[in-house]
Amino acid sequence: MNDSLSTLPAFEQLSRIPLYVPGKPILEVQRELGLTRIVKLASNENPWGPTEAVKARLASVISGSEFESLNLYPVSDGHYLRKRIAERKGVSLDRVILGNGSSELLELVAKAAFMDGGSAVIPRHSFAIYGIATQTAGGRIIESRASATEFDADDILRAVADDTRLVYLGHPNNPTGLRLERAAVERLMKNLREDIVLVVDQAYAEYEEPADYPDTASYLDQRPNLLVLHTFSKVHALAALRIGYGLGSKELMGYLERVRSPFNTNHLAQVAAEVAVQDLAFEAFSREKNGEARAAFMLQAGKHRCQLTGTGGNFVLMETAFPAVDLFNELLHRGVIVRPMQAYDLPNHIRVTLGKPEEMATFWNAAGPLLDGGC
Ligand SMILES: Cc1ncc(COP(=O)(O)O)c(C=O)c1O
Repeated sequence: MNDSLSTLPAFEQLSRIPLYVPGKPILEVQRELGLTRIVKLASNENPWGPTEAVKARLASVISGSEFESLNLYPVSDGHYLRKRIAERKGVSLDRVILGNGSSELLELVAKAAFMDGGSAVIPRHSFAIYGIATQTAGGRIIESRASATEFDADDILRAVADDTRLVYLGHPNNPTGLRLERAAVERLMKNLREDIVLVVDQAYAEYEEPADYPDTASYLDQRPNLLVLHTFSKVHALAALRIGYGLGSKELMGYLERVRSPFNTNHLAQVAAEVAVQDLAFEAFSREKNGEARAAFMLQAGKHRCQLTGTGGNFVLMETAFPAVDLFNELLHRGVIVRPMQAYDLPNHIRVTLGKPEEMATFWNAAGPLLDGGC
């Protein structure tokens, strides 16, 4: 890093914040290792989409009269998509905000909450952006207790400090696949100080069985300081378009509007998401396929005596008796990209996205011999 730049106090502070390391892109692995056939199971994308209906809508933009309007800015607040989301979720339009991926909303809420400093409570082993968003907005992290196998709602409440402005909660959590049960969600809603913004990240909620899942959106009327986040990157299979949404009270949305850049979501993403959010059949199909892939994975993992934790999301977290980065590297050389979890304080775990049957077969063909002596 350039020395004269790091003498700026803000840059010096920034240099101490860990960089987000995304899953390795397929093209990069092809280039670096000279491999042609690569399977990527590293970023929890949905292998079953996008759908033909989304394709048709995007094609209509490219080949129809809408194409000529691409010189114009998109609808700044994504009114039409927000309307569809509001209908689907049974809330009013003024309780929906869009983000350039839900990652942007994780950052926007931090920017709003930490304008005067303060702290965020974040359970250990949570999605990296929670900590990065907190620190880059000038907030301090308080880590609450959690392990690869257990989430502790009561410790979140205990960890709250006088200056706490925000609590982040993955529900279910990435990478552990854990989520709070209904009673714990209730306790959190009831006992968390009212002036603290509770951000519940439901990026993988659609993979849960609707009847069993305690959707925290049902508390929106009770708690004005609640932000429930969803994304189009996972079950809706639109990760490349970068679009997500938040649900909250009208008051909270008013504050977030002040930190949101105008035109933060683009036209193609808005129109594709309008189609995707109405497609309940594709959601159910993806959920079913994910369930099948998880059951098949558990069977194979059992054969190799590999421990898996959590059951949420479209991924598994697998424990290894040796540094998981070694397994990651071996797999990479065999054309399979997974995610080692050392950056999440889990040096002996890898996270594997649940892909199509043929992708999972490639994974086990590569991983099986490496794990023959057990995980
Ligand atoms: C828990 C969680 N939240 C949010 C995101 C961000 O999703 P996006 O910014 O693509 O909407 C991810 C992405 O992997 C995630 O795992």
